[in-house]
Amino acid sequence: MGEPGTAPTVGEDWAGEMGARWLAGLDRFEGMIAPIGEALLARAGYTPGERVLDLGCGGGATTLAIAAAVGAEGAALGLDIAPMLVERARERAAATGSTARFVCADAATASLDAPPFDRLFSRFGSMFFAEPGAAFANLRTMLKPGARIDLAVWAHPRDNAWMMEVMGIARRHIEIPPAVPRAPGPFAFEDLSYLGEVLEGAGFTAMEAVAYNGAQAVGGPGASPQEAADFVLGSLGAGRMLAEAGDAVCQAARADLVDLFTRHHRAGEGVMLGCKAWLVTARAREAGP
Ligand SMILES: C[S@@+](CC[C@H](N)C(=O)[O-])C[C@H]1O[C@@H](n2cnc3c(N)ncnc32)[C@H](O)[C@@H]1O
Repeated sequence: MGEPGTAPTVGEDWAGEMGARWLAGLDRFEGMIAPIGEALLARAGYTPGERVLDLGCGGGATTLAIAAAVGAEGAALGLDIAPMLVERARERAAATGSTARFVCADAATASLDAPPFDRLFSRFGSMFFAEPGAAFANLRTMLKPGARIDLAVWAHPRDNAWMMEVMGIARRHIEIPPAVPRAPGPFAFEDLSYLGEVLEGAGFTAMEAVAYNGAQAVGGPGASPQEAADFVLGSLGAGRMLAEAGDAVCQAARADLVDLFTRHHRAGEGVMLGCKAWLVTARAREAGP
């Protein structure tokens, strides 16, 4: 399987800075979204023999879980644009004797030298395309007709306290331009009707979505308020803007974050703030886009 170019086609530089940041905080990021991944995997219900493509697989945690479910007679292939994350995913697979395989490529344009897949999965890896319609049309060429896709995408920020509360603090200290609806980024598909349009135009049908409502451990399970604040400042977009606004601003914002997180800290669990995601399914149309 080839290694097509990894030049980013998205607003966020996942092949560079974003990928490095995700890798640096890998355990904390994965710990935060682990329960949503488990819910998505349970909904997908993979069985032995299936061939599954994991879109935007990051460090490969979900690809490894899929590989275990589909067994040696199936296939789990993680596809990601970030070389450093693919390298880590391969290391993990080797260390655990997993049959999962990984390709580093831009899913928007990649052409895989592999038989078509029965299923496509993605935990928060589908919202970063500059041209999502073209990207999903390309992904459809990698799937069998009728193949089912399972995606986790974030719901609106107002339903995600972990994001709203942090943004509220950030806006107390610095100016942050308003979000552009539908722009590539974590909340690109907050409006499900937009995702429906994208999928329909790209040759998918029968979209259904259920809400995942829960609480998310900011900075990973068990993080203290101080650790969660440092994670936000080092790893999340708004936090990075604060960290780069100078020492005084950063320290004042950190104090506010620690105060917020102390109020939401639960012994044994960590800093728990509400989250909402959509677990979306659809099927590749049988013929024609
Ligand atoms: C929020 S992370 C999620 C990672 C992983 N799915 C997980 O749940 O741990 C988003 C991932 O999508 C990948 N990604 C972003 N744009 C991509 C593209 N055009 N092609 C392939 N992967 C992409 C990033 O490199 C990153 O690993």
